[in-house]
Amino acid sequence: MRVLGFESSCDETGVALVEVPDHGHGLPRLLAQALHSQIAMHQAYGGVVPELASRDHIRRVLPLTRDVLRDADLTLADIDVVAYTQGPGLAGALLVGAGVAVSLAAALGKPALGVHHLEGHLLSPFLSVDPPEFPFVALLVSGGHTQLMRVDDVGSYEILGETIDDAAGEAFDKSAKLLGLPYPGGPHLAKLAQAGNPLAFELPRPLLRSGKPDFSFAGLKTAVLTQVKRLGDAPSEQQRADLAASTQAVIVELLVRKSLLALKETGLKRLVVAGGVGANALLRQELNEACAKRSVRVHYPELSLCTDNGAMIAMAAGMRLQRDMGRLRRDGSFEVKPRWDLASA
Ligand code: KG4
Ligand code: ZN
Repeated sequence: MRVLGFESSCDETGVALVEVPDHGHGLPRLLAQALHSQIAMHQAYGGVVPELASRDHIRRVLPLTRDVLRDADLTLADIDVVAYTQGPGLAGALLVGAGVAVSLAAALGKPALGVHHLEGHLLSPFLSVDPPEFPFVALLVSGGHTQLMRVDDVGSYEILGETIDDAAGEAFDKSAKLLGLPYPGGPHLAKLAQAGNPLAFELPRPLLRSGKPDFSFAGLKTAVLTQVKRLGDAPSEQQRADLAASTQAVIVELLVRKSLLALKETGLKRLVVAGGVGANALLRQELNEACAKRSVRVHYPELSLCTDNGAMIAMAAGMRLQRDMGRLRRDGSFEVKPRWDLASA
């Protein structure tokens, strides 16, 4: 069975095709994928402009689909199921992917399947050369979400803890903006931090000792703002790098500490990191070190699959279908869910 997947929840248009083994328990295999990032378009505004995002998804989605089919050396007739990100995300952006996917499925006489965006992130490490095994603790760190979850199988997600305010990606992005870095700030802040001293600035570590795997990042942004103001109009490059390094160190420390707490609480020995912030090199280094000491295996998606993409959506759909868990629709109707709790997916 072949599944075509569409991702359009925010500022990336992703399309991908996976082959789902008919028999046995082999994992779905990625045949081809194509991605267009809108980052350059939104950069002028310092963040994602929803209306522009939707219009750009419309422009990109069909050419990307043609690229994927060409790369896989297949045609539309070879597709058995069309999957799409049903939520959460920007309503207008979701509607583009969902509308195209469901129309295509109807035209082909094939079923369509809505996928939860975070389930896509969560299962994206199964696309790597060293895929995890269930059960595991998942640290989901994206621009909009920061959650620790116990994952026993596809569709079995128990939230152990989450952020009570900003997401980790948001903390990166907002701090980066205060430092005058372009959108999305996470990778830019990480780059600037390379030349900085992480101990140069004393910043708050909210909820570090709460004893629960929960997070809070809003206070950090306020503290960064206070430091930026203190440095005045012309901070030196070194001061900016030091503040970036100190900020990154706090975010990473919180993520590592809480991940260890979740591992301890569950007694599990496997950690899966997913979502855009999972691309952060310091986070990977610190998690690897901390987990090695505790005989915990850590899995990450390939770097290119950390941020939004179509492959993770096609993969999540494929893994659901293998377990007969996909709510397939054949009537051409659809709805998107801009807000959607993963535990209820
Ligand atoms: O998962 P994702 O692509 O989109 C959402 O579903 O939100 O995550 C995007 C987030 C942004 O906040 C971005 O700044 C952050 O991931 N990010 C990083 C890095 N690469 C992406 N944050 C820190 N370090 C990075 N290397
Ligand atoms: Zn995402």
